Amino acid sequence: MNVYDSDRMAGLLSHQGYRVEKDIRSADVVLINTCSIRDKSEHKVLSLLGELKALKKKNPEKVLGITGCVGQRMGRTLLQRVPHLDLVMGPDAIDRVGTLVGSVLKEGKRVLDVQFDVDKKRTYNQPSIVYRAKPVEFLTIMKGCDHFCTYCIVPFTRGREKSRPIAEVITDVKNFVQKGTKEITFLGQNINTYGKGTPENLAQLIEEADQVEGLERIRYVTSHPRDLGEDLIAQFGTVSKLCPSLHLPFQAGSDTVLKAMSRLYTRDEYLKKIERLRHYCPNIALSTDVIVGFPGETDADFKETLKVLGQVEFAGAFLFKYSPRPGTRAFSYGEEVPESVKEERLLQAQQLVHDILDRQNKAMIGTTTRVLVESLDKKAIHFTGRNPDGKLVHIFNAGEACIGKTLEVEITEASGSNLRGYYVGAPRTDRKSQGLSPSFVS
Ligand code: 5AD
Ligand code: SF4
Repeated sequence: MNVYDSDRMAGLLSHQGYRVEKDIRSADVVLINTCSIRDKSEHKVLSLLGELKALKKKNPEKVLGITGCVGQRMGRTLLQRVPHLDLVMGPDAIDRVGTLVGSVLKEGKRVLDVQFDVDKKRTYNQPSIVYRAKPVEFLTIMKGCDHFCTYCIVPFTRGREKSRPIAEVITDVKNFVQKGTKEITFLGQNINTYGKGTPENLAQLIEEADQVEGLERIRYVTSHPRDLGEDLIAQFGTVSKLCPSLHLPFQAGSDTVLKAMSRLYTRDEYLKKIERLRHYCPNIALSTDVIVGFPGETDADFKETLKVLGQVEFAGAFLFKYSPRPGTRAFSYGEEVPESVKEERLLQAQQLVHDILDRQNKAMIGTTTRVLVESLDKKAIHFTGRNPDGKLVHIFNAGEACIGKTLEVEITEASGSNLRGYYVGAPRTDRKSQGLSPSFVS
């Protein structure tokens, strides 16, 4: 979502005559788009700001701004704490970025904009600025979150749920496809309730997107187990462009912890959803998020989390140590799990996930899979893309023309983190051994 927001700001500014400058030293305006989901991401922002102090001192006319959730959360405090900062703005101010940067540049003012969208309507309009399109694109279709999981800062930094109308989203999809996009991932903090308070819903959007000519793949993130209804689950068996993959965070395996997190489902209810998903789509690739060391989590609670990880055999899992966020309910729970215990639990869960992935991926050696090619790696040795499951695949023998194409790839090597192999339609010559730029795919 932040990548999408950054792109939007770049697009809006480019319409006002700015252009993207990658070198921070020569840029006139430096905007740091931030995430405040965990304490660590906030620390990174503060330390980067420290590093940029010298640069700003050398070029006082350079505009330095913080955008995104850290801006929203810290607001004025951030301006007070960092005297060389010119601009602080939150996610709801994105569409005002041009005016805000302009005020700093023209009037030399220090600017703060952490205004929420206060309009009571459940819909909002925000057509994408499609100024370039990659084979794989992300598209934000809603904002905010109405759940208040007790550990989570998102409802405080991104406000209440609001959805963009289906017609506007489909126009965006068509514009992206016209510029070469083949795969779209719809984004929302709590995407299953897209359209809440309006006559539209996510299932309808998926059906309409499925009809868009030239679009090959559809995905969406992030689902909430409580809100993933049977209609959405069934679509994995009926909508041809919907990829057989779903990110469904369970966060914790113990019902006591789930309750303290206010996740609104039990472990068995979560597992039932998995069963339904596999009923409609037996090979669906499931991924998840897990938090270890939530306040009060006992060894026995944590074992329940390991049990779910082992039982479901996810195709991917993001594992986090609980990070207390000021203002959330869990912040004042007490019963903090010691850092060393969190660390130990994280390692244990990581090891389990890695072993499962390693086994899954090695079982793919010798099989073929369809990879939508996205890019060439920095060393220009292999092309990279994802298969329908969302697994990352490196391809050794392909040419520049393959970017944006879907290739049949035979997997020859695998590890816990990725798959590697050869495009079956071309000679098996590694780019490494033949120099750059062969163009086997036309
Ligand atoms: N501490 C650790 N992880 C968190 N997440 C959200 N809030 C916190 C927190 N305070 C994780 C959840 C969520 C993912 C995006 O980040 O697992 O699904
Ligand atoms: Fe945060 Fe997701 Fe819970 Fe919303 S549903 S409060 S974004 S963890």
